[in-house]
Amino acid sequence: MTTPTNLLLPEKEKTLYATRILTFAATVWLVVATVGQWLFGIYILLFYGKTTVTGNFDRWKEVLPDRYVEGTWKVVVGIHILLAVILVIGGPLQLIPALRRQFPVFHRWLGRVYVATAIVVSIAGLMMIWTRGSLADPTQHISISIQAIYIISFALVTIHHAKARQFAEHRAWALRLYMVVNGVWFFRVGLMFWLVVNGGPVGFNPETFTGPFLTILSIVTYAVPLSLIMVEMYLYAQKKQHTAFSLFTAALIFLWIIIMGIGIFGATRGLWLPRLSSVFALYDGLPQIELA
Ligand code: HEM
Repeated sequence: MTTPTNLLLPEKEKTLYATRILTFAATVWLVVATVGQWLFGIYILLFYGKTTVTGNFDRWKEVLPDRYVEGTWKVVVGIHILLAVILVIGGPLQLIPALRRQFPVFHRWLGRVYVATAIVVSIAGLMMIWTRGSLADPTQHISISIQAIYIISFALVTIHHAKARQFAEHRAWALRLYMVVNGVWFFRVGLMFWLVVNGGPVGFNPETFTGPFLTILSIVTYAVPLSLIMVEMYLYAQKKQHTAFSLFTAALIFLWIIIMGIGIFGATRGLWLPRLSSVFALYDGLPQIELA
C-alpha cells in the first residue's frame, strides 16, 4: 500500500538529485571561468608587465587609444590595468570552498586586498572614461560606469558583512561582487563568442566600436548584468530546494558554460595570444582584434 511517507520520499530524492545537479553545474562553471580568467590574467601580466618593466609604453598603443598613453596618464592607466591582475587571478581563489576552509587567514587577507583593489581599479576606470574618453558610444560609457558603482558599493557591503560575521550575507554579496568585477571579462568573452559564431563582426562597426550588438552587450554585461540575475537564481534555488527551479537554473548554467567556453577560446586565440606574440615574438599568423 502507498503511504504518505512513501509518496514523500521520491520527491525528496528528486530534490536532492536536482540540488546535486545544480552544485555540479556551478562547479563546472567555476572551473571553466577560472581557466578563462587566469588566461586573461596571464595576458595582462605578460603584455603590460613586460612593456612596463622595459619602459616600452608605446606598445600599449597597439591595444589602447593613444591618449591613454600620453604623459602622466599612463600612471592611472597602468594602475588600472596592472592592479586588475589581482582581481582576475584572485577572484576565483576566493570562491574555492576548500581554500577558504584550509587557509582562512589567506582568504581574509586576499579578501581585503581584493575589495581595496576593486575600488581603486573602478575609480581609475571612471577617470579614464570620463576625462579621456574612449572608443564606443555613450550607452557603453554609461553602462560600464554603472558597473563601477555596483563594484564599489558591493565591495563595501561584502566587507561590512564579513566584519559583522554575517557569513550567509557575506557569501551572497561576495558572489555578487565577483560577478560585477568580472563584467569586463564577460564583455570580452561575450564579444568573442559572437565573433566566433558569426565568423566576423555582425551588428557593430569594429572601426568605431559602436552598433546595436555592442549596445545590448554592454547593457547585459554591465548595467543590468545577466550574471547577477544568474547569481540570484542560484542563491534562490539553493535556498528553496525546489526540484524544477533547481533543474532549470542548472540548465541555464550549462548553457552559459558553453557560451563562455566558446568565448574563452575566441578571446585567447583572437585577442590575448596575438598581443602576447607581438611583445614576445612567439609566432605570427593569427589576426588581432582591436578591443576598446
Ligand atoms: C574591475 C574590473 C576591471 C578589470 C579587471 C579591468 C581590466 C582592464 C584591462 C586589462 C584593460 C586593458 C585592455 C586590454 O588589454 O584588453 C582595461 C582597459 C580599460 N578599462 Fe578596465 N577593467 C576593469 C574595470 C573597469 C571599469 C569599471 C571601467 C570604467 C568605469 C574601466 C575602464 C577602462 C577603460 C576606459 C579602458 C581603456 C580601453 C578602453 O577604452 O576601453 N575598466 N581594463
